[in-house]
Amino acid sequence: MKSLIVTGGGAGLGRTIAEQASTVGYRVGILDVNEELAVKASSSIENSVPLVASVTSYDEISDALATFGESPDVWINNAGIVRFAPLLDLSIDDWKSVVDVNLTGTFLCSSLVAKAMIDKGGGSIVNITSINGISAGTNSGAYGSTKSAISLLTQQMSLEWGQYGIRVNAVAPGLIDGGMSAPIYADPQFRKLRTEKVPTGRLGSEIDVANAVLFLSSDEASYITGHELVVDGGIINSIIANLPRPSSVDTVGIDEH
Ligand SMILES: NC(=O)c1ccc[n+]([C@@H]2O[C@H](COP(=O)([O-])OP(=O)(O)OC[C@H]3O[C@@H](n4cnc5c(N)ncnc54)[C@H](O)[C@@H]3O)[C@@H](O)[C@H]2O)c1
Repeated sequence: MKSLIVTGGGAGLGRTIAEQASTVGYRVGILDVNEELAVKASSSIENSVPLVASVTSYDEISDALATFGESPDVWINNAGIVRFAPLLDLSIDDWKSVVDVNLTGTFLCSSLVAKAMIDKGGGSIVNITSINGISAGTNSGAYGSTKSAISLLTQQMSLEWGQYGIRVNAVAPGLIDGGMSAPIYADPQFRKLRTEKVPTGRLGSEIDVANAVLFLSSDEASYITGHELVVDGGIINSIIANLPRPSSVDTVGIDEH
């Protein structure tokens, strides 16, 4: 039986990734800093164990790997936090918290698990980024900056660790109806305004993200590494289409002579 550990697995996207991974036959480690959430999630997911650790702690992640009892075939860096504020109002403490959990946590966990995967002969790592790491967004400068950095870190790790049989990819979710965004979509007005902007006409689900993560984790993706798969119903490509433009402008540049 193959095994997978997902960080931030106690809630939101991480929990759904854990559920789907169990459904397709993985033994699953549900790693979360929140013990109650990890234990609760594990109690309803077959073949899973709770692992209580912060992705920011080398010792806690080492202990979690020891508790899991084997080097996992797959590691998902999903734990992430956001602190909303315009840059001019963002405290240094909030900046540091976001960098610590999102970026440093991804580096710390990946380098620890990569060492175990090298001994095992290989593995697969998937990092959860965001479309907010591709394009800047309102009040989310710290968050977006870490997600963009994780995209580059994904390439760097794939470059350095391919020789050990370790593939490293990223999934960039768009407007997801769940997890940390649940409060946004609980407001019917925001829900409608945002949904209208998505070319496919709907918000994404946690399962949309989990499916992409499990594809990149799987042997079906054995020749894919260093890739960031955007799962957003097309919204990141629609920024210019969302700008108002008078139809008369369509003739600009056409030589009428
Ligand atoms: N929900 C969205 O709309 C959305 C969109 C794009 C990207 N993402 C990304 O998806 C990932 C999951 O987000 P979510 O929406 O499920 O968030 P969430 O807040 O619902 O869940 C995050 C989980 O991570 C855990 N966690 C927080 N800090 C931790 C730490 N230091 N160590 C271990 N666990 C920790 C929390 O306890 C929680 O269980 C994040 O990386 C987020 O940036 C989410």
